[in-house]
Amino acid sequence: MKQEQVLELLKQMTLGEKVGQLIQVLGEDFLRDNVDITTGPLRELNLSNEDLYNVGSILNVVGSENIRKIQDEYLAKNRLKIPLLFMADIINGYKTVLPIPIAQGCSWDTNIVYDCAKLSIEEGKVAGANVNFSPMVDLVRDARWGRVMESIGAEDPYLGEVFAKTIVQAYQGKDELNSKNVAACVKHFAAYGAVEAGRDYNTVDMSEREFRQYYLPAYKSAIDSGAKMIMTSFNTVNGIPSSVNKWLLRDLLRKELGFKGIIISDFSAIEETIAHGVSIDSKDAAYKAITAGVDIDMMSRAYSNNLKNLVKEGKVSEELLDESVLRVLQLKNELGLFENPYGNANAEAEKRILMSKENLNKARKLTADTLVLLKNENNILPLKKCNKIALIGPYADNIGILGSWSIFSEGVKIPTLKETFENKVGKDNILYSKGSEILKEKDINRILLADGKKPIHLENEEENEKKYVKEAIETAKNSDIIILAIGEHYKQSGEACSRANIEIPRIQQNLLNELSKLNKKIVAIVFSGRPLVLKDISEKVNAVLEVWFPGVEGANAITDVIFGDINPSAKLTMSFPQDAGQCPIYYNHYNTGRPQRGDFRFVSRYQDIPTESYYPFGYGLSYSKFIYSDLKISNKKMSKDSKIIVAVKVKNDSNVEGAEVVELYIQDLVASVVRPVRELKAFTKVHLSAFEEKTIEFEITVEMLKFWNEKLEYKAESGKFKIFVGTNSKDTLEEVFEYE
Ligand code: NOJ
Repeated sequence: MKQEQVLELLKQMTLGEKVGQLIQVLGEDFLRDNVDITTGPLRELNLSNEDLYNVGSILNVVGSENIRKIQDEYLAKNRLKIPLLFMADIINGYKTVLPIPIAQGCSWDTNIVYDCAKLSIEEGKVAGANVNFSPMVDLVRDARWGRVMESIGAEDPYLGEVFAKTIVQAYQGKDELNSKNVAACVKHFAAYGAVEAGRDYNTVDMSEREFRQYYLPAYKSAIDSGAKMIMTSFNTVNGIPSSVNKWLLRDLLRKELGFKGIIISDFSAIEETIAHGVSIDSKDAAYKAITAGVDIDMMSRAYSNNLKNLVKEGKVSEELLDESVLRVLQLKNELGLFENPYGNANAEAEKRILMSKENLNKARKLTADTLVLLKNENNILPLKKCNKIALIGPYADNIGILGSWSIFSEGVKIPTLKETFENKVGKDNILYSKGSEILKEKDINRILLADGKKPIHLENEEENEKKYVKEAIETAKNSDIIILAIGEHYKQSGEACSRANIEIPRIQQNLLNELSKLNKKIVAIVFSGRPLVLKDISEKVNAVLEVWFPGVEGANAITDVIFGDINPSAKLTMSFPQDAGQCPIYYNHYNTGRPQRGDFRFVSRYQDIPTESYYPFGYGLSYSKFIYSDLKISNKKMSKDSKIIVAVKVKNDSNVEGAEVVELYIQDLVASVVRPVRELKAFTKVHLSAFEEKTIEFEITVEMLKFWNEKLEYKAESGKFKIFVGTNSKDTLEEVFEYE
């Protein structure tokens, strides 16, 4: 449709039809035969059956058959034949579930992040999704927050920036969005990752400098890459909830950053501003949200119950409403839905590509590059095939490894570690024992009840616990090595899954304690959605492989790494703390006036634990051994029109071919405001064959030196800068240069 036709359509719309476009509801109700919303969640929205055929978009219903049925029925009743938009959360895969986003980021590889996003969207698109609620680019520094699992750049603003762009381009294409692609919805604007004490939905309060410097860049990058939508966050930003925050949405997002796309609230977030205590009632919330700039109300009653009246009463101008409606119509038009309301929904393609052999093979390769080797004493890994292996633990034969966003993949059949290990070395070489449940009955029931699910009952829990451990010990006695597959439950991370204790569940720690008395070699495979406190575990075992929630090909990929078919190369994008008491902990912190000096008392430190993380940002091992040397800079001085070339030699000092992520950090030594001890500014992944050495070069540009100064201007200041290059954020070579 031409732009004039879209404008013409807008003119023909009644007030009710316009408001409809700004309402998003759950799709389930549309799926019932003889849709009648006098009951069910839509009743709450106060929609009439007639209103239902005016809503602009629906949430989380996909599947080509569903899409066709809903769209046909909807269009039959919609006066102006304006098609519905289908939006969904295809976060780490649709049917071919991939590693959770934090894991994908640990590849430190834009090709891998791109391929994951592409695979997800190719499947999601034939299932009919028009908009994907991804990427999630919230900067995260507190592992207690359950949603760190969703963050693609995790603790680092630069990684967030790079991957935000990568994912938007994978969904939307590099050029203008067209009907073959899916629109990206970047979330959650803004600073949702900074919720106090890591408790979900909690307050966020920070200086504007801090916000602009660390939290804003990833959202900005998604917007600059053309993301068509942005979702507000649940939290307050400096006293005002995001969904009614005029400064955030109108001044910063629309005016300063030039965002032209659609702003959608998060689920029910507009009405939640009443509970926040800034809106008197639903009408007030609707008024505040639309004037702040929210176009679509996701599942709160505020817009459906009040927008019409607000316009009629002259409190909200029809022009303002029209601006929002036009944005929605335009997106529908860009996606070609007026010509083809089913978009890319395609039953034949669904059969062909969803979880196809090709996609599973791709997934297996991608997944292997997200597994982080944290410890490998005496090169115990990779395992030799001849070992008699005791495979023990609640994750040894478990399919609950898809992560909490696997909402479209219920019931998909996936291999477990037991099966893939047996395939690799033969059944006779694998001695399996469960060892323990993931959680105790009371702990799992707390999760199930909060989810509205039925509690479970574990018959003879105490006795079974002992029995499992005993069996595990017997099994382990007959083995050469123990592989222990442990971790948190997949429902312990994700939305509303904040935890104050971020250790491996105690029941599994007990299992390890007992096994470690056998004095056998132990390799721990750790499943989690967040950095865990692994100190105790790590000290009791010989190797640790962090596998996150790795997805449908997780077991195969882990097997590939454990047996050396793939050499691990992933590195942490978030610091692993010594203790939850350190959270928030992040590598790019400031120095304080009293940085730690040995055991001196009056310095910034803890009395009972070290200050630094247990596993630092950027850390991850390989089966190869990499040596860094000869860090050189092309010039000791740099001006605003010149660049410095940094060169470093990286040698693979082993007979195993491998890939190494080379990381470059910069520190501004003296500035008008305090600057972090180091900040990641560049990285590259280099492949080195056995004993090969390469010289890696980076270019230092003035852009890398800029920051939000004392006057809140984004500028570089003259003075000395330190460059660090190395294998992680701690072990680096250094050089100094001066910027004039
Ligand atoms: C709430 C979550 O915060 C958000 O990430 C998600 O996209 C929406 N629900 C829609 O499911």
